[in-house]
Amino acid sequence: MPIVTFIDHDGTPHRIDAPNKRSLMQIAVDNGVTGILGDCGGSCSCATCHGYIDTAWAPRLPAISETEAFMLEGVPEPRDTSRLCCQLRMSPELDGIVVHLPAEQV
Ligand code: FES
Repeated sequence: MPIVTFIDHDGTPHRIDAPNKRSLMQIAVDNGVTGILGDCGGSCSCATCHGYIDTAWAPRLPAISETEAFMLEGVPEPRDTSRLCCQLRMSPELDGIVVHLPAEQV
């Protein structure tokens, strides 16, 4: 099974089995990763699933939709690598992806 690693803002890694087609937000919530809240259930309307995607995976990610870009404008510390984890679905291409979690989202 593919793997995703979430890294807390304090550097603690969470290496998790990641079923294909499941969103990174849902995978984090299913496994008790506290740095991802997912308050809206994945409908791209809360931005509590914000993560910084390790740059090595950037070329393999789907494009950011207008709605996701709009929501990312409201997160406390946006970066070029910011994405909403509910908008990213696990796939074989993303096996091993690393997501750094923002400090304010705990
Ligand atoms: S879970 Fe709400 S925007 Fe991702």
